[in-house]
Amino acid sequence: MRTQVGIVGGGPAGLLLSHLLAQRGIDSVVVERRSRAHCEARQRAGVLEDGTVRLLRAAGLAARLDAEGLQHSGIYLQFGGERRHLDFRDLTGGRTVTVYAQTEVVKDLIARRLADGGQIEFEATGTQLAGLSTGQPVLRYTAADGTSRELRCDVIAGCDGFHGICRPAIPAAELSVWERGYPFGWLGISADVPPSTDELIYAHHPAGFALHSLRSPAVSRLYLQVDAGTDLAGWPDDRIWAQLRERFALPGWDLREGPVLARNITPMRSFVSSPMRYRRLFLAGDAAHIVPPTGAKGLNLAIADVAVLAPALDGLLRGDARLAESYSGTCLERVWRATHFSWWITSMLHRSPGADPMETELQLSQLRYVTSSRAAATSLAENYTGYPELPGQAVPA
Ligand code: FAD
Ligand code: PHB
Repeated sequence: MRTQVGIVGGGPAGLLLSHLLAQRGIDSVVVERRSRAHCEARQRAGVLEDGTVRLLRAAGLAARLDAEGLQHSGIYLQFGGERRHLDFRDLTGGRTVTVYAQTEVVKDLIARRLADGGQIEFEATGTQLAGLSTGQPVLRYTAADGTSRELRCDVIAGCDGFHGICRPAIPAAELSVWERGYPFGWLGISADVPPSTDELIYAHHPAGFALHSLRSPAVSRLYLQVDAGTDLAGWPDDRIWAQLRERFALPGWDLREGPVLARNITPMRSFVSSPMRYRRLFLAGDAAHIVPPTGAKGLNLAIADVAVLAPALDGLLRGDARLAESYSGTCLERVWRATHFSWWITSMLHRSPGADPMETELQLSQLRYVTSSRAAATSLAENYTGYPELPGQAVPA
């Protein structure tokens, strides 16, 4: 079998890349190790930057996003017994974010690829890369029906997430890697209860960070900071709700509670590997970088990468390598900005185990500053809504 672009991974990065390439008349195959149902149900991110929404709209992928996405003009920061609002629209000259879950983005992308005749090989096992240094790299895998496949490609896109096979296929000597772990993670729940807030609440609290997000007008999404290595078994529902009530407590405000639909624990990590290209292999999304979720950047970065990669591959396959040569540098500039922002906002809001009282006072001072100085608030707002703004997408008709 032959295709122009072999894409490993059917997450947001791989699926969107396949769509953007198809719009340019470029053929691709997505090789995904999980089932369609699994990919569509995996609970992850929830906030789309302005530029991400515009990109999906320009790519003809936003019918349901426009109908069901919830546009938010800002966030609340809660600390020291107060809840303060940051108005992004006002601070950034009109920019907003949209709450639309990654599960829905993935459902929309899969439905569209299949409707357009795109090929997604779900439940592929034993995927391997070969011939990266040759003009024709190869993807080998066993398809869902048990047959062995060999896919000859012009290039391979590694969109297979942090634990995938593509980044490790690059010789270690060719990569620089930066990594930072955090001594805490997030316990997340989805609850069958209308949100208790109109916009997201990020809460700093002596017992640890908490976040009130949402999935729809009927479903809330809530997170608690927990120690790294925490086992869900130690967190029955009544303990989760008691901690949420404590961390969001505010006179005159009540947290609505309801049945827990799903729960999971997310470890926190910052990770960047560079360059994002090795010969005929291009990495995109979590395969190349990871941020802690506090800045809501992971999904947006994955989408920004493929917005740069699609035209770069288009050029490369037509014999013009200029955009392919600058792909890694262009992406890493945004990646490092998001890496800093995500680390910064995480450090400002979480309680580090063993932190001394001075650290808490420094956090509270910073929180007062970003909610009282317009310059500081604008910097947070500019980063949260997406910086730099994504270039307009000229998608061929
Ligand atoms: P992924 O979504 O990870 O997709 C990679 C795909 O590759 C997967 O479908 C995987 O099954 C497939 N794959 C892996 N290995 C192979 C292989 N060998 N062969 C074939 N296919 C393979 N971001 C936020 O902003 N907010 C959050 O709350 C948040 N929560 C998260 C929770 C978890 C548990 C994780 C892992 C991430 C979370 N993120 C969050 C980050 C965000 O979801 C990711 O940045 C985003 O999914 C990146 O998209 P991607 O397409 O690059 O990678
Ligand atoms: C989410 O809704 O899952 C979400 C929102 C904001 C974040 C992280 C996760 O910063």
